[in-house]
Amino acid sequence: AIPVVIDCDPGHDDVVALWLALGNPALDVRAVTTVGGNVPLPLTTMNARVALTVAGVNDVPIAAGAAGPLVRELETAEFIHGENGLGGPELPTPTMPLDDRTAQQLMIDVIESATEPVAIIATGPITNVAILLRDRPQLLPRIREVVWMGGSTERGNATPYAEFNALVDPEALTIVLDSGVRFTMVGLNVTHQALLTAEVRERIIAIGNNTSRFSDDLMRFFCDTNEEIYGMLDGPLHDPVAVAVLAAPETVELVHTRLDVETTGTHTSGVTSVDLHGMLGREPNAYVAMGLDADAFWNHVIAAIATLD
Ligand code: BDR
Ligand code: CA
Repeated sequence: AIPVVIDCDPGHDDVVALWLALGNPALDVRAVTTVGGNVPLPLTTMNARVALTVAGVNDVPIAAGAAGPLVRELETAEFIHGENGLGGPELPTPTMPLDDRTAQQLMIDVIESATEPVAIIATGPITNVAILLRDRPQLLPRIREVVWMGGSTERGNATPYAEFNALVDPEALTIVLDSGVRFTMVGLNVTHQALLTAEVRERIIAIGNNTSRFSDDLMRFFCDTNEEIYGMLDGPLHDPVAVAVLAAPETVELVHTRLDVETTGTHTSGVTSVDLHGMLGREPNAYVAMGLDADAFWNHVIAAIATLD
């Protein structure tokens, strides 16, 4: 199994991303790190602990990282995720303690002690990964790759053209892109195919374990806010698609292309520029997700949840 660190800002879809990673046999989750994003850091950290507690996972360390972006003020997304970041279900008191290391130190310890290169899956603003790569470039050969949910080849969801995770910390994304690490972007153009249809929600509920029961209220809240804000009848479950890139690579189609992010635009701050037609004549620097086998993807999510408590 591929050793991975999940860096997240839970968030409804981050929670399912954690469950997919924890329940999929192709991945070995060595650590969970948190970042301020959907809601402030104390809440995303609490919610990560809740996600593992619900799933009955007690042996994966969780550490808190950056409270906000490298140079900007934190923008949050309570309008989708609720005031506590996990609107809907009643949250259990977490049994998983918080590790006393910083997210960066936990990542360093995991990467240095692993016998093979470690992958990082980031499902929030990419601040923690940027800090790691900026401060420890010598670790690069020991990092297999970074897969990130964020950006879009099309329109945005936080401003007309910017996706939320990219908008929150585009300077961090620039650092990661310039680092030379193998980088895959899983943007809205693909995550909008991972729709929580009534049929998918029924299949998740039918699993019947603790995690499945918890997810019922979780999914309902997330679908309701997505309908209210974006008029989408079935909520797009973004973050688990980034996990699928490593857990079930046959489900996600990637292209190697040029990726840049706007940091200065008047109306386009945080917009990802994906040069699909090679118009810039620049070397490809990233893989970008372009297609999803949604049926196969949901089969993996459901199979993973079924392995948990
Ligand atoms: C991304 O923003 C967050 O609200 C979600 O958790 C996801 O990571 C989607 O734009
Ligand atoms: Ca997220």
